[in-house]
Amino acid sequence: MLDLRLGESLLTTTIHGVKPMKLFFNNASPFVRKVRVFVRETALEKNIEEIATAVSPVTESPALSKANPLAKIPALILDDGSALFDSPVICEYLDTMHAGRKLFPASGPARWTALKLQATGDGILDAGVLCRYEMAVRPKEFQWAGWVAGQTKKWHGGLDLLEREVGTLDGEPTIGGITVACALGWLDFRYGDDHWRDARPRLTTWYEKFLARPSMQATMPSA
Ligand code: BEZ
Repeated sequence: MLDLRLGESLLTTTIHGVKPMKLFFNNASPFVRKVRVFVRETALEKNIEEIATAVSPVTESPALSKANPLAKIPALILDDGSALFDSPVICEYLDTMHAGRKLFPASGPARWTALKLQATGDGILDAGVLCRYEMAVRPKEFQWAGWVAGQTKKWHGGLDLLEREVGTLDGEPTIGGITVACALGWLDFRYGDDHWRDARPRLTTWYEKFLARPSMQATMPSA
């Protein structure tokens, strides 16, 4: 007979001897994907239990709202029951939970480069997600083309910045590269017809290489 206690002990044993953390996630969110890629890049998979969560700007999941009153994913419940959100905070916390190379450089220019890349990727996503909500969630009669055009200009500006400063993405992955890659992956997923690669050849080359990483392949977005 299957020994259920074995399953339980496997689930609850971690390198730190603590219970797994719980990550509210879904496969479409690029902000969640950041965390899922980060978990894989830092070999923390066994420490995280993923809880599939449906979210939209107008409906909420009671369990998620209890953990994060902002009702947004990703949210991470720690083994003491407290919760962390959003993706920059969760990733920086996870970086303290492994003994390998840190993905948030501790100080100096490398830190500011990584954080600026993270802000650029998150900013592209913030603008892109606002456009997506405007077109896919807001009733047609309330949609505002000027709003979509303004937000689209912001994400295009972020992409152009990355093309100009693509050298800052070189080297071993950091939170910066992970965020940028998840932003580009989400644009492919939701805005394939925007053709972001056109006129951004250096960013395209960088992304295609990053996309081959197992952490990215294991977390491809889906609806
Ligand atoms: C999406 O469905 O594209 C999405 C879901 C959650 C957060 C952001 C985007």
